[in-house]
Amino acid sequence: MQKFITSLVLAVLVMIPAMSQAHDKHEDRPAMLVVSFGTSMPEARKAIDSLVEAVRSEFPGVPVRLAFTSNIIRRKLQKEQGESVPTPSQALAQLNDEGYTHVTVIPTHMIPGEEYDEVCDVAWAFGGIDGKFGFEGISVCSPFLDGVKGCETVADILMKRFSERLKDKETGIILMGHGTPEHFANAQYLQLQLALNQKAYGRFFIGTVESAPTIDDVMAELKRHPEIKKLVLSPLMIVAGDHANNDLAGEDEPDSWINTLRKNGWKDVTTYLVGLGEDKNIASELVRKVHKLIDEDD
Ligand code: CO
Repeated sequence: MQKFITSLVLAVLVMIPAMSQAHDKHEDRPAMLVVSFGTSMPEARKAIDSLVEAVRSEFPGVPVRLAFTSNIIRRKLQKEQGESVPTPSQALAQLNDEGYTHVTVIPTHMIPGEEYDEVCDVAWAFGGIDGKFGFEGISVCSPFLDGVKGCETVADILMKRFSERLKDKETGIILMGHGTPEHFANAQYLQLQLALNQKAYGRFFIGTVESAPTIDDVMAELKRHPEIKKLVLSPLMIVAGDHANNDLAGEDEPDSWINTLRKNGWKDVTTYLVGLGEDKNIASELVRKVHKLIDEDD
């Protein structure tokens, strides 16, 4: 009897870890999904790829996938370059099918506008799926211009980015944001302007392609700063794509900002057409945000 009880206790002891393992069927399998609007211009693509690369090298062993939100660009890429880039929902369904349990979604958007909201909608929809077609955890990283702190951080990055040009007191930096006409997130451009004014008053002038401030607002502001005689035009966007090359710097586009400024008397206008995604400090900021999000979730 004594022997029987001893072996029974032993058997139970041996079974406990086996049972808890059986209950916890699988271990956590994390994955990351970088989401961009997308671009079909190979030169501009570097900006997106370098952000993906920055995340990959920071989290070795975690798969980092890429999705584009623009269907026009996705279809163009498929047709012209034979490259298939998924939508956020396709990419998440694929990660689910491959058995990943936790996903960190990393939008590369500047403002928490419509596009960003749509990425969140998809992520939260997947987050609401119980059972095998959902995830155990899904979280979404904030955009760059997310509140006062985010704007101050981006302002610091812009100060470094243009530090050489700012040494010349006659140079003004004109930044073209995308802008969103119907969403309150457009106000983030003014929040960033405030942060830039505090760091270098009268040196940075933010406008947007699709909303306010417009190029007319920028010129009105420039007139209040007659000491600014030389202008540098640069995109306030992750990618220097169509908007940067045509709406901002297009020589053949009569209404491009470069031509509008020249017509209105600013003759010394140069361009710096590099997407913010290629800026090492923007890449580090993205990685920092991902770390912060993961730490909050733990
Ligand atoms: Co656009």
